[in-house]
Amino acid sequence: LNYTEPYRPQYHFSPAENWMNDPAGLVYYNETYHLFFQYNPAGIEWGNMSWGHATSKDLTHWEERPVALLARGYPENVTEMYFTGSAVADVNNTSGFGVDGKVPLVAMYTSMYPVAQELPSGKNVLAEQQSQSIAYSLDDGETWTTYDAENPVIHNPPSPYGAEFENFRDPFVFWHEDTQKWVAVTVLASLHKVVIWSSDNLKEWSLASEFGPYNAVGGVWECPNLFQMPIKGHPSIKKWVLVLGLNPGGPPGTVGSGTQYFIGDFDGTAFKADPDNIHADNKSANWMDWGPDFYAAASYNGLPAGDDVVQIAWMNNWQYGATIPTSPWRSAMSVPRQLSLKKVNGKVALLQQPQHSWRSVANHQTLKHSWKSVSKGSTSLDSPGKAFKIDLSFADHDSDKSLASTFAIAVRASSDFKQETLVGYNFTSKEVFVDRRNSGDGSFDKTFASLYHAPLSANADKRINLQVFVDWSSVEVLGGQGEVSLTAQIFPEGNSTEARLVSTDGVTQDVRLRISGMDSAWH
Ligand code: FRU
Repeated sequence: LNYTEPYRPQYHFSPAENWMNDPAGLVYYNETYHLFFQYNPAGIEWGNMSWGHATSKDLTHWEERPVALLARGYPENVTEMYFTGSAVADVNNTSGFGVDGKVPLVAMYTSMYPVAQELPSGKNVLAEQQSQSIAYSLDDGETWTTYDAENPVIHNPPSPYGAEFENFRDPFVFWHEDTQKWVAVTVLASLHKVVIWSSDNLKEWSLASEFGPYNAVGGVWECPNLFQMPIKGHPSIKKWVLVLGLNPGGPPGTVGSGTQYFIGDFDGTAFKADPDNIHADNKSANWMDWGPDFYAAASYNGLPAGDDVVQIAWMNNWQYGATIPTSPWRSAMSVPRQLSLKKVNGKVALLQQPQHSWRSVANHQTLKHSWKSVSKGSTSLDSPGKAFKIDLSFADHDSDKSLASTFAIAVRASSDFKQETLVGYNFTSKEVFVDRRNSGDGSFDKTFASLYHAPLSANADKRINLQVFVDWSSVEVLGGQGEVSLTAQIFPEGNSTEARLVSTDGVTQDVRLRISGMDSAWH
């Protein structure tokens, strides 16, 4: 396999073949980053849900490993699928799974039982039931043993929600330092409720609290993620962030999946969102990403204390995920993102920056240019190819006859520019945008060819800063200090490698551009 098929991401993780969805079980242990993910060993559509596995030393170069948890009964008669979950290194062996001093990695996941059955533990489950189970590994994640003696360890939704047994899933487990307990965060997807549990040993769980519904409740709530971070510049103030997938019901202008977050406090029992993070209309939300292709975001467990939180998301959307024109695999992960909190205009904002190891594949084919003024119309650029990273900054302005109404860089463009993806800024609406209406193949879904936008104000120097990661089938935009993010897949022709600047209705001032070529992380 040489990872050179049409649309194959060059520095984003994708499985060699077959279907992938959510990242699950991101854990750093023994100087290795593990990435487990929802995986169908049998094909490029969702099914037979198992946990695929990849490892990395730097979060950019990945090696795919054997399937970690293969759907029980696969292939003839699947009786249990392993849905999304999380993993921890149980360094104190609270679970007792460790043997001879070997630290167990413990995964907690949703067991989805397609058929009613009595389990080896003697517990009974209904058809389509979702319960929470655990498994452990004593060889650094290579092979796993399910805890059949007791699974599922959280059998049923808490009362009075027993009827929700088909919509109870996605445990995110982590160690809560202050109370010295394990905490697991799950969802009652259709009720838009997060249910929080705690445990001393990862095996016996007690109900701690529930949260929601709040803010965006368009579809179901899935894949909760909860973590703590200091506020930059105020290291003694730490806040908790709860991240949730919504499907459908993403940000304005998107169709399908999306990701929202809440900033607040968590005492080991209850999560309480800050009052300014709750929107009374139950419609607006804090969007983690304003594009269509950022879902099921999960953070790493086990990072060295003091390191920033790092998240990876599924770079796809349930609206069209199963029909994107890639083969023999479907779906890639986002660039890993380093998260931080910072006070911006008096309010705590969640910032995203690319995790630094992308630099290990940046090559020396760098284009650097600045313009006092970019004229109205288009300005040609040398071809940056198919995989590169852009830093683009320019002066903001209020509307004025001689000045631009929008300014953008066109990437992955054909030589006649009939095909192009535009990443830019609208000076009138003060929004960053990604326009993939003419980006290439969009024939597989009628909602795909669209324009996405996110609000962004200029920084203190009255400038707009954009970082853009372009790969063979995606663009990821981080605006400002990372307070907005826009992620979108694109499927351009292989020979669409041109780029240009486009300033509409007038000039754009003080433009600085830097483009670094990106090599393949697979070779
Ligand atoms: C989210 C999700 C999860 C579920 C998994 C199944 O994308 O629907 O809620 O556990 O995918 O593959």
